[in-house]
Amino acid sequence: MNYKDKIIKLKKEKNALLLAHYYQVPEIQDIADYVGDSLGLAQKAAEADVDMIVFAGVHFMAETAKMLNPDTLVVLPDLEAGCSLADSCPLDDFRDFVSKHPDHIVISYINTTADIKTVTDVVCTSGNAVQIVESFPKEQKIIFAPDKNLGAYINNITGRNMVLWNGTCEVHDILTTEAIIGMKEENPEACLIAHPECNAAVLELADYVGSTTGMLNFTEKSEKRKFIVATETGILHQMKKRSPRKEFLVVPSDETCSCNDCPYMKLNTMEKLYLALKNGTPEIKLRDEIVQQARKPIERMLEISKKLKLI
Ligand code: 13P
Ligand code: SF4
Repeated sequence: MNYKDKIIKLKKEKNALLLAHYYQVPEIQDIADYVGDSLGLAQKAAEADVDMIVFAGVHFMAETAKMLNPDTLVVLPDLEAGCSLADSCPLDDFRDFVSKHPDHIVISYINTTADIKTVTDVVCTSGNAVQIVESFPKEQKIIFAPDKNLGAYINNITGRNMVLWNGTCEVHDILTTEAIIGMKEENPEACLIAHPECNAAVLELADYVGSTTGMLNFTEKSEKRKFIVATETGILHQMKKRSPRKEFLVVPSDETCSCNDCPYMKLNTMEKLYLALKNGTPEIKLRDEIVQQARKPIERMLEISKKLKLI
């Protein structure tokens, strides 16, 4: 039996739910019970009623699923699958930063550790960040962490002046306007779509900025036939599936390759996924007191998102 068949069989036997992010390799996306962006994945995790959740994504996503399902076994195929944004925001330094800005509430991007979520008022994702910020009065002082690019983008859209933590995504932040302008010159009919973790100069050139789900829906609905995609390569699999007659070009991370892969997302493989399901490891473990504190801002985000009909 190949890994695909073994995984499908085990999933049934173990009453397991397989959640996958769009940046996973195509084979994993194709056998997942649900593929989505961070917001959709958090919502699916919140609704889960299974014996095991296998999270084909990165650590903060699996941690979120565990916080929403503290009594369920949650496994991540490779525990090393981290995130440069989450790593850029250590708890002690962040506490110092928060203490220097009294009267501010803390809005954290979901790409943070459980520890950071314990000192957060409300979590957001790229799919609801603008609306979460706008759910607070204009005069409310806000600290936004850890992505300075996403934070600056929201400040720009909403006219707010949130204080920003200085973190970036190592995959998106290095995409350059030089590469994009060259691609635009060669493909003048193409539409540029970008994830808000890209730097401000790239976002300024974009015809559409949004979460992975937002970009996917945009390409499906758009009348354009060609897209320059400024995000991780994995999303192209779903874009091609949904719009087989359209063309998608990746903005490369450097001149030596035509790809733009997240090294953490791509640590998960079919073999590791199979072993995680079979053995129930590596397991996400969190202390009770962390779960109690850290799940509050996630639940608050889900409540606001439901109220605004974003999920
Ligand atoms: P999305 O929620 O837009 O899928 O983003 C997750 C992520 O890690 C992007 O780098
Ligand atoms: Fe983190 Fe960037 Fe990878 Fe997303 S693409 S998981 S933000 S390092």
